[in-house]
Amino acid sequence: MTYISNDIINEIRNRTDIVEVVSKYVNLTKKGKNYIGVCPFHDDHSPSMSVSPEKQIFTCFSCGASGNVFTFVADFEHISFVQAVSLLGEKLGYKVSSDNAVRKRDDYFEIYDIASKFYQNSLNTSMGKNAIEYLNKRSIDKNTIKKFGIGLSVQKVSLTDYLRNKKYSLDKLIDIGLTNDNGKDIFINRIMFPIYDLSGNPVAFSGRIYNTKDTSKYINTKETEKFKKGKILYNYHIAKEHLQKNDTVIIVEGFMDVIRASTVGINNVIATMGTAITKDHKNIIKNMTKNVILCFDGDAAGEKATISAMEMLEDTQLNIKIVRLPNDMDPDEYILKEGKDSFINQLDSAISLIDYKMELLKKNRDFSDVKDISSYVNSVIKELAGEKDDIVIELNLKKIATNFGIEYSTIFDRYNEYKKEKREVKKDIKLRKYYNKYSQAENSLIYYMLKDSSVIKMVENRVGYFPTKNIRELSNEIIYYFHKYGIISIADFISYISDKEQLYNTLKEIIAMNLKDDFQIDEIEDYIFVINEYHKEMKIIDLSKKLKEEKDPLKQAKISLEIMKIRGVKKDDTRD
Ligand code: CTP
Ligand code: MN
Repeated sequence: MTYISNDIINEIRNRTDIVEVVSKYVNLTKKGKNYIGVCPFHDDHSPSMSVSPEKQIFTCFSCGASGNVFTFVADFEHISFVQAVSLLGEKLGYKVSSDNAVRKRDDYFEIYDIASKFYQNSLNTSMGKNAIEYLNKRSIDKNTIKKFGIGLSVQKVSLTDYLRNKKYSLDKLIDIGLTNDNGKDIFINRIMFPIYDLSGNPVAFSGRIYNTKDTSKYINTKETEKFKKGKILYNYHIAKEHLQKNDTVIIVEGFMDVIRASTVGINNVIATMGTAITKDHKNIIKNMTKNVILCFDGDAAGEKATISAMEMLEDTQLNIKIVRLPNDMDPDEYILKEGKDSFINQLDSAISLIDYKMELLKKNRDFSDVKDISSYVNSVIKELAGEKDDIVIELNLKKIATNFGIEYSTIFDRYNEYKKEKREVKKDIKLRKYYNKYSQAENSLIYYMLKDSSVIKMVENRVGYFPTKNIRELSNEIIYYFHKYGIISIADFISYISDKEQLYNTLKEIIAMNLKDDFQIDEIEDYIFVINEYHKEMKIIDLSKKLKEEKDPLKQAKISLEIMKIRGVKKDDTRD
């Protein structure tokens, strides 16, 4: 990596106006002190991104993207931070770049684009005869092959050689997952499905066997800088376009499910590519639409995947519905066998999340056994206790009352009792409230440290310890930065921290909280107090645990003394 000193980075940033740069990419309108525009980092039409000329940072209040002028350009152009610095630096006459850094666009997409065309071409030659036959047998016609960019890797012609002749380095090809360490193609004799990132750039391949037996049916490109399975959903960029017509996204497991649905005109479909839905997937889906249909394979693995997806998506405001296909079929097989209309019918009669859960609870029970009925009723009550809609609760309770011939009042009483117990358990949540207060205090302190160096000094002298690791490290970095440069600004600190991914993400989250900009010293005092109290509380909990486990009376006494000492320290004593 090219090294550019922080001083130069800060100088370039100081001489560059973020509003001017961002408005080259995004239409900005002035609103109060700031400028607002449509955020380019998530799919949106309303202006949720704000650019502050005063702070020289941007923040999206919808997707949480934030950063300074360099990270904006880097993310927008898909270039590295260093490349963004040199790009903006050059405009001011700085010569900060090595050859690597000047290159405006990473050639990753370019290579994948060439590779994809190369594979598509091979499929159309005589070498592709068997593969075409296989695809036709699976009812994949010419148009579909073209639409999804399906291709073929063959033994005879090497993609690696082809690309090397085009002057791409072997290191690069290995790095981006097309070539192995011996300089040979990764994919040989497989039907190739290109995989695109959220913006529709080709970033990976999945290759399927077609006329051989191999232990792995599909081989995917290894995880690279631009291909992370947990952050990509197959067919996202196409499905997104179709949501305007039909504001529901259908989530399936496999490539072939997406492709088959498209052959019958259903295009609002994305695939998890067989992995569990991740937090990143969740955020992507949340920004697509409010309506989701989970339509995983009909087998047991599909049921497991459905449940784990449900759990992942549960705390969103999404309207989630579920389709369970019969006879272990996947959507591909179902559409082929039962036809388009039958599949659409399945989608139209998708059941709600709570109904599906009610169904799941019935599994593996013997309803001729009264004990089993009672435990089933309990499990339903437990599930319903988390439901917000009173009507849904009442209807479900009535349903079991009728089904099992139980008085409604009996069931309703039991439900109320359970709710009461739950409320008592809630007392434990006091600590969580404490945590919320603490969490607010630590976020605020970090934010104000970056606004005002007097806060840095207060934190340095008076906060003993931030119990949260990322906050502790961020605080240490801010203190270090301030000692080194003697001055602090949020925009420059972003440059400094941008290659420490975890800390930068934490900082982004704090910026996206949109904390008010002016603060009183009294508030800072309160935050420091909360942090120190929380730390004490944590230590006491820790020691109490130890005390419980300790058998030796002498050691017990020592721990007790320690607890007392911590408890005994008064508020004022912590302040110096
Ligand atoms: N998958 C993968 N790597 C594997 C196996 C599966 O990436 N080794 C992903 C693929 O996206 C695949 C999905 O998981 O489409 C579901 O796998 P599976 O149900 O086994 O395949 P199908 O989609 O049914 O594929 P096909 O119909 O071609 O047999
Ligand atoms: Mn299949």
